[in-house]
Amino acid sequence: MRIAVIGTGYVGLVSGACFSEFGHDVICIDMDTQKIEGLKKGKIPIFEPGLEDLVIKNYKAGHLNFDTNLQKAVSTAEAVFIAVGTPSRRGDGQADLTYVYAAAKDIAQNLSGYTVVVNKSTVPVGTGEKVDKIIRETNPKAQFDVVSNPEFLREGAAIEDFMRPDRVIVGVTADEAKDVMASIYRPLSLFQTPIVFTSRESAELTKYAGNAFLAMKITFINEMADLCERVGANVHDVAKGIGLDGRIGGKFLHPGPGFGGSCFPKDTRALFETSSMAGVPLNIVETVIDVNEKRKKDMAARVIAACGGSVSTLTIAVLGLTFKPNTDDMRESPSLDIIPELISAGASIKAYDPEGMKEAKELLSGVEFCENSYATLENADALVLITEWNEFRALNMDKVKSLMKAPIMIDLRNIYDPAEMRGYGFTYESIGRPTT
Ligand code: UDX
Repeated sequence: MRIAVIGTGYVGLVSGACFSEFGHDVICIDMDTQKIEGLKKGKIPIFEPGLEDLVIKNYKAGHLNFDTNLQKAVSTAEAVFIAVGTPSRRGDGQADLTYVYAAAKDIAQNLSGYTVVVNKSTVPVGTGEKVDKIIRETNPKAQFDVVSNPEFLREGAAIEDFMRPDRVIVGVTADEAKDVMASIYRPLSLFQTPIVFTSRESAELTKYAGNAFLAMKITFINEMADLCERVGANVHDVAKGIGLDGRIGGKFLHPGPGFGGSCFPKDTRALFETSSMAGVPLNIVETVIDVNEKRKKDMAARVIAACGGSVSTLTIAVLGLTFKPNTDDMRESPSLDIIPELISAGASIKAYDPEGMKEAKELLSGVEFCENSYATLENADALVLITEWNEFRALNMDKVKSLMKAPIMIDLRNIYDPAEMRGYGFTYESIGRPTT
């Protein structure tokens, strides 16, 4: 199969590299010349474990190429994937589809022979139809079908998620398009991955429904964690207990400072907007959004309380800034709520993150960024752990304690054992676990 992928952001690049690993001939297109030239030299613009090796290997083998010119790639492709960004529109929270529609126009002008145009970007229900209309109006003679094929990649595990997905969702309107999509994903039949063919609208909605459900699970366990703290229960025991019920499942029940990232916040907002416009506002989704936003802000109050009610003269060490480990992505990270709140309460902040420092420096002002964990902890009055990077799991606690002015630790990801931390002499606070 010859495949063109428009957009070399997170989804486009991972999809392009993985399709080429499947054995297809892939050209990834982006308007950004610098990015394309960099990619040809093996320079990957995002941090994603395994991606660099995959790109370099398949580029050298000739299965994967990069170009700024869409014309040749589209005219020779059997399938063109639209993988451009769909950010939250300022003001109303709806997905901004400007880039998707612009890509549809560009594609339309260059189609030659029957081509399947695939929406890979996360787009609201009804977008497939609009893309179909744009292409038909721009190029009335074009032979094509528009398909919805949402991605379910987690940052930090994207290659694994693409190569071994739980399922592939494909929304189609014609058998010819179904055959092309079945050929593209045929390598997954080796693992008996279900390829679920649905209507285009169902596929579009499945992506949002999935993300909203997961966001709801996290929000549920986060609220449950607050209750556990009040009544002396342990949220991990409760999560395990309910998760063993096959109808609930144990994943996405880890409590924390609130979900962030490029998907859950944006997609829950967009789904709520879609549902409201359709006259069926999803109240549960609206509540998840509100509870999560409030939670991220409340984390600062939790830190202040752990420090005795005031941080105005204190230096606080923050470990972990990204919204989760194994990514350099800072989008909607809880750290962006917690740190400014602490600063406005008078605290001085020292911070470190293994991969997110570059982005963090652009987003957070008034923070002293440090070289590593131990430099961050030097002379700190308290430690706040925001992201559960592996390297924070194995800190030398004697050293940590000797570097800090006061042994106070607020672990917002529950990576340490409370009894052990108290054994080291820390005043240790975590989420949803008994304090004694
Ligand atoms: C998510 C979906 O998992 C993926 O299927 C979709 O395509 C894109 O959005 P991602 O945003 O990369 O992926 O990260 P994920 O691992 O799902 O975590 C999202 C947020 O939820 C993070 O802030 C994480 O810390 C938080 N989270 C996750 C929890 O707080 N508890 C959990 O148990 C799981």
